[in-house]
Amino acid sequence: MNSSTTKSGAISVSNFPQVGIRAAAKDDIELLREWKNANRDSFFYRQKISKIQQEAWFIAYLQKKNDFMFVAELNEKIRFGCLGARYTNDKEWDIYNVINGSEATQGKGYMSVALQKLISFCHATTHAKISLKVLTTNPAQHWYKKNGFVATRSEDLYLRMEYCSTRLEFT
Ligand SMILES: CC(C)(COP(=O)(O)OP(=O)(O)OC[C@H]1O[C@@H](n2cnc3c(N)ncnc32)[C@H](O)[C@@H]1OP(=O)(O)O)[C@@H](O)C(=O)NCCC(=O)NCCS
Repeated sequence: MNSSTTKSGAISVSNFPQVGIRAAAKDDIELLREWKNANRDSFFYRQKISKIQQEAWFIAYLQKKNDFMFVAELNEKIRFGCLGARYTNDKEWDIYNVINGSEATQGKGYMSVALQKLISFCHATTHAKISLKVLTTNPAQHWYKKNGFVATRSEDLYLRMEYCSTRLEFT
């Protein structure tokens, strides 16, 4: 266990004060589009997204009260990733569009901290189950497991995973 982890092996958010998440804004959408297009093999929707499609997505997104897209940043300055959560008609949170877009920040634990912050946001907004769908071919499922998610359903194309807070301890 290194000094960045808790006893359970989970990343300790308090050891990464430089990592924050904030609501995505219009100025972010081109970067978000680039990240999504560069990682489209990791997602259900695999078509390249055009600038026009991205703008249309953002306009529609702004109308949705229960949909929250965040940008992950270092020191409130350097944008390195994005992650979203939407509260669905099933009365649970669906985490989506999780991407570390910057090679320089990959594998440093920063996205795990951003994910924990997103989970805290969900719990603080509406306490409900937090789930996600990850393609069965996507190694990110192991990353989610490390971050406290357990597989609850397996389909041909994807795994449904659910956050289980007792698997982690926070400091
Ligand atoms: C999934 C994804 C967001 C993870 O981003 P990341 O930057 O690699 O994530 P982290 O840095 O938090 O974790 C990566 C690894 O670093 C380790 N790590 C690095 N520094 C650490 C530290 N200080 N303390 C503890 N662990 C640390 C983590 O344990 C983890 O280990 P692993 O490689 O064995 O899984 C990224 O791989 C990605 O963007 N993938 C493509 C898009 C995608 O598949 N999204 C999910 C769609 S459902």
